[in-house]
Amino acid sequence: MSAMNTIDWSTLSFGYMKTDYNVRSYYRDGKWSAPELETSEYLNLHMAATCLHYGQEAFEGLKAFRGKDGKVRIFRMRENALRLQSSCGGIMMAQPSVELFEEMVKLVVKKNERFVPPYESGASLYIRPLIIGTNAQVGVRPAIEYTFLIFVTPVGPYFKEGFKPTPMVIIREYDRAAPLGTGTFKVGGNYAASLKAGQIAHEKGYSAVLYLDAREKRYIDECGPANFFGIRGNSYITPKSESILPSITNKSLIQLAEEMGLTVERRPIPVEELSTFEEAGACGTAAVISPISRIDDLGENRTYEFSKDGKAGPISERLYNKLRAIQYGDEPDKYGWVTIVE
Ligand code: PLP
Ligand code: COI
Repeated sequence: MSAMNTIDWSTLSFGYMKTDYNVRSYYRDGKWSAPELETSEYLNLHMAATCLHYGQEAFEGLKAFRGKDGKVRIFRMRENALRLQSSCGGIMMAQPSVELFEEMVKLVVKKNERFVPPYESGASLYIRPLIIGTNAQVGVRPAIEYTFLIFVTPVGPYFKEGFKPTPMVIIREYDRAAPLGTGTFKVGGNYAASLKAGQIAHEKGYSAVLYLDAREKRYIDECGPANFFGIRGNSYITPKSESILPSITNKSLIQLAEEMGLTVERRPIPVEELSTFEEAGACGTAAVISPISRIDDLGENRTYEFSKDGKAGPISERLYNKLRAIQYGDEPDKYGWVTIVE
């Protein structure tokens, strides 16, 4: 119970911290069980479970924010429910209903309410749902039993620099996802595939890898843990690709950009077009907007610069402020994006 006294909310990084409860539902005989609260951080898993051998695992990431009014707001959880269904469908796992997902998210946030960081800290509660195939099986087939679990952890910025621009890198020797593969699903295998290039990038001082399309290596796909956008003049430009995750943050920014009078272009972006962007950023639940200072294309020996003064560009900053204001409840939720935890 001492956690509240010992957490320094303002210096939180993006990581795991034990909280009071997680919530679980089990799929057996073709149905999901009623959600169960659990205090253990461990799973009792069969060694032949399909998640361990054949990667039957999908996850989600969303956040809850404490407003100035003390209320806790969960951002766009329905979208995450729908995407989890899509991910489960993509790797032949049982899909939880939107209602079950929402019920479990609300329950786990409510039960861990003391871990939702205070408004002033700028931190938030990260919510991590995951589904795994659990029954014992050695042949390559989808499981018939699944565990759906949601835990939460208070977090600060994903990139330690927060809203300060950081450099990213194109490494042409690695792909994250194939065009007709699982790139549009949020499944563990995609992240395993990104670890090696990610490690190389970090060792070289970059905050993330910017992936190109695997087929032609001509177009921008996305950043390791986030979507990509560029700003040129009055346009918000973001990749259309068959191998990137449909980001809920990006979808929200597109709507906000349009409302701010920007023109939105969602289309294939040739790498060289980077030289025409005045601003560039990574966007995602964990990343929020992480401005990009520079992109080095190692194979081509080219550098694209976006921020010479170490500051984010004005449009990225406006978008960031607008999104955060809705998430924290500083601005009215006119799109119905926010669920207040009662
Ligand atoms: N792309 C990848 C590969 C991600 O892991 C994430 C994080 O969820 C995103 C994009 C951003 O998606 P969202 O904005 O829904 O968090
Ligand atoms: C998120 O933004 O929620 C992510 O999942 C990114 C990363 C932590 C995988």
